[in-house]
Amino acid sequence: MARTFFIGGNFKLNGTKQSIKEIVERLNEATLPKDVEVVLCPPAPYLDYATNLVSKPQVTIGAQNAYLKASGAFTGENSVEQIKDVGAKWVILGHSERRTIFGEDDALIAEKTKFALDKGLGVILCIGETLEEKKAGNTLKVVEKQLDAAIAQIKDWTNVVIAYEPVWAIGTGLAATPEDAQEIHASIRAYLAKKVSSDVAEKTRILYGGSANGQNAHTFKDKKDVDGFLVGGASLKPEFVDIVNSRN
Ligand code: G3P
Repeated sequence: MARTFFIGGNFKLNGTKQSIKEIVERLNEATLPKDVEVVLCPPAPYLDYATNLVSKPQVTIGAQNAYLKASGAFTGENSVEQIKDVGAKWVILGHSERRTIFGEDDALIAEKTKFALDKGLGVILCIGETLEEKKAGNTLKVVEKQLDAAIAQIKDWTNVVIAYEPVWAIGTGLAATPEDAQEIHASIRAYLAKKVSSDVAEKTRILYGGSANGQNAHTFKDKKDVDGFLVGGASLKPEFVDIVNSRN
């Protein structure tokens, strides 16, 4: 079974009601391939607003983070139940900025992943190495360690999408080459086959993230283990439609 192409747009801490309206309406009006799944992830205050703007069933809304409790005395956190309550279907977890700026470790991210999946949200699980780890030749060791924590918690992989985001490519304009991305993605898939099952490995979509844009997305087209992108800066721009259409 072919894996459907999946494009996530991670707006990070960017946007206004007007700019988000423009992004969503650009997608509503664009001609998109039927078999592409698009998930826009605006900042939490705009989840409800964005959900109500979307007109295409293949475009859904996701959050950028969620806590491991549904409610309670957790000031400032996002609740999985509240994310679902406003119609969002996905949540990004384990983004490198959550790991490096906010100190989230593999165990916490895995616990949050389990909780979100158990409550019915899809999870875009981010993994990836830093420049230092890459230079030391530890890329696979790092991503396998990040995956191990999630593998220990995830019982059903149906609603899990993995995003391989080399930290050194995020926001730098220096994307990994399609060949390098394909090599790492194939290793991630092989690791899933070894640690979980060949069925999960075959069905789980693995996205590339890190300076993906309207100019380079098509160069990944023939990389069989690259199932889409998790896009940051370019998701805020008109070229995001080109990324969604980059398999054409
Ligand atoms: O989550 C996607 C993001 O980290 C990639 O950012 O700006 O390099 O596309 P960017």
